[in-house]
Amino acid sequence: MVQSGKGILAADESLPTIARRFAGIGLESSEQTRRDYRALLAETDDLERHVSGVILFEETLDHKVSDGQTIPHALQARGIVPGVKVDKGTIPVSPSSVHKLTQGLDGLAERLSGYREQGARFAKWRNVYRVGASDADYKVTVNMGAEILARYAALCHQQDLVPIVEPEVLMDGAHEIEHCAAVTLEVQHAVFQALYRHNVDLRYIVLKPNMILPGEGVGKASPDRVAEATLQVLMQTVPAAVPSINFLSGGQTDLEATANLQAINQAARSFTAPWLLSFSYGRALQAPVLKAWQGRPENVAVAKAELLHRAAMNGGAVAGDYSA
Ligand code: 13P
Repeated sequence: MVQSGKGILAADESLPTIARRFAGIGLESSEQTRRDYRALLAETDDLERHVSGVILFEETLDHKVSDGQTIPHALQARGIVPGVKVDKGTIPVSPSSVHKLTQGLDGLAERLSGYREQGARFAKWRNVYRVGASDADYKVTVNMGAEILARYAALCHQQDLVPIVEPEVLMDGAHEIEHCAAVTLEVQHAVFQALYRHNVDLRYIVLKPNMILPGEGVGKASPDRVAEATLQVLMQTVPAAVPSINFLSGGQTDLEATANLQAINQAARSFTAPWLLSFSYGRALQAPVLKAWQGRPENVAVAKAELLHRAAMNGGAVAGDYSA
C-alpha cells in the first residue's frame, strides 16, 4: 500500500455522490452503470505501475470484472491492494449548523470483519471540517471528530485492516490560506492526540489530509506557496512513525492537484521529510476518465488511457519529477 512513486485511487463515491458525477455526463446511476464504470477503472492495464491501492465503495466489493473475479480479487491479483470506505456519511452537529460529524461507528466491528472476508485489506473514514465560524459546533467537530476517527482506526487494527485516517478541512468558503492552515493545525493536533489515547500504532495507518489552500472563493495560491504552507502544518503535527501521507484532491482540478503534489515533494527534499508524500485522489484522477467515457462502451479504451495518464503524472509528482 505504501510504495515510492505510487499512490491510491479513491473510487469510493457514495450513491448520491456517484449519481452527481454521472449526471455530469448525462448518465443515470444504476447498479449496472456503477459496476461498468468501476470495472473500467479496475481493469486499466498497467495501473499497478502507479497505483498501489484502490478505495472501493461497499457495493463494489461484490461486483465482478469481465473474467468473473470480484473487483477486490482482480486488483489483488495485479498487486493493487483493495480497500473500502466504511463511514456512513455526515450529518450536521445541530439542525442549522454548517459543521458536520461523520456517522457509522455502530456495528462497525462486524462490518469490518465482513469487508475483510470480501477481500478488503484497508479501510477509509472521512471527517469534514469547515473553515469559518469558530463556534461551539466547530469545537464539537474538532474534539468529537477526533475521538470518532481514533475509535474507527482502533477497530480497524482489531480487524487486521489498515485505516486511512481522513480529516478533510474543506475549501468551501472565502478564507485566506492562513486560516486553512490554522484550522488544519488544530484538527491534526486533535486527531493525533486521540490516536494516542486510543492506543493506535501509527506505523500502520495512512493519513489522508487536505493540502493547505485558500478558500475557493479567494482564488488560487501558487504550488510553491501551497507546498510551503502544507509542509509547515504537517511538520508540526504528524509524527515520523506515520509511513505515508496521501493527500485528497478536494475540488482541485486534475492539473492543480498534480502540480501541488509535485511542489510538495520538491520542497520536502530540502529537509528529508520522514513520510512518503503521495496521493489518494478521487476527482483529480477520475474527472478526465468520466469525460472520456460518457457511459459508452466504445469509449472504454480512451477512458482507461486517461486514467493511466493521470496516474502516471501523479506517480511522477510523488517522485518530484513531474513536468507539465
Ligand atoms: P477527492 O480527491 O475527490 O477529494 O476524493 C478523495 C476522497 O476519498 C474523499 O473522501
